[in-house]
Amino acid sequence: MKFFLDSAKVDEIRYAREMWAIDGVTSNPRHIKTSGKPFLAAVEDLATLGREFGEDFAISVEVNPHHTTAEAMVEEGERIWNMCPTNFVVKLPCTEAGYKALQIFGEKDIPCNMTLCFSAVQALQAGRLGARFISPFIGWKEANGEEVEHFIEEIVTIYDNFDFATEILVAAVRNGRQIAEAAAAGADIVTAGFDVYKESFEHPYTPVGLKRFADAWDATPYK
Ligand code: E4P
Repeated sequence: MKFFLDSAKVDEIRYAREMWAIDGVTSNPRHIKTSGKPFLAAVEDLATLGREFGEDFAISVEVNPHHTTAEAMVEEGERIWNMCPTNFVVKLPCTEAGYKALQIFGEKDIPCNMTLCFSAVQALQAGRLGARFISPFIGWKEANGEEVEHFIEEIVTIYDNFDFATEILVAAVRNGRQIAEAAAAGADIVTAGFDVYKESFEHPYTPVGLKRFADAWDATPYK
């Protein structure tokens, strides 16, 4: 199971790499905005981190969400990808134009992450067309009152049935419970924000237990 960080902030990514051994980064236009930098400067920072962390560290960068044609997505996506071809993955929406762009990127051997996936059939299409990652957004579906466990299990079954190499990157993850459920359902990767990981790796009982054990330790002669 791989953990990606949903962020474009250099300090968060460095911390998460050093402390939690995260395996990659997913950025989107909202994360780039939160980084406080212009688009190209933020993407250049991500490229620098990618070169530093090695080629296994996948970094998704999304094309301009205003694009409505595959040609525009490919033109921009290729320019972005060329800023760090060893690490960058072009993020495209699960739309008709996005799927067409995915096919063109496939001919160029440029890896893509299909984002904003809300149905198993969208994931099926991404798998058929050779996406590197599919990003089902479970947090948004759950907030909309939809169930998500069966959603991920269904994508896992479909990908197993047809031997797709596309990795299932569960996105918009809001808490540790969802991380565990994605892992149990057979997802390959989760991506979550800094605070979600920070809270998930702790539990209120752990410090309570440590205090109990520390009291016992103090009340016991060492020799
Ligand atoms: C991941 O690739 C997505 O950009 C991300 O998970 C979106 O999640 P959000 O709703 O937390 O922004």
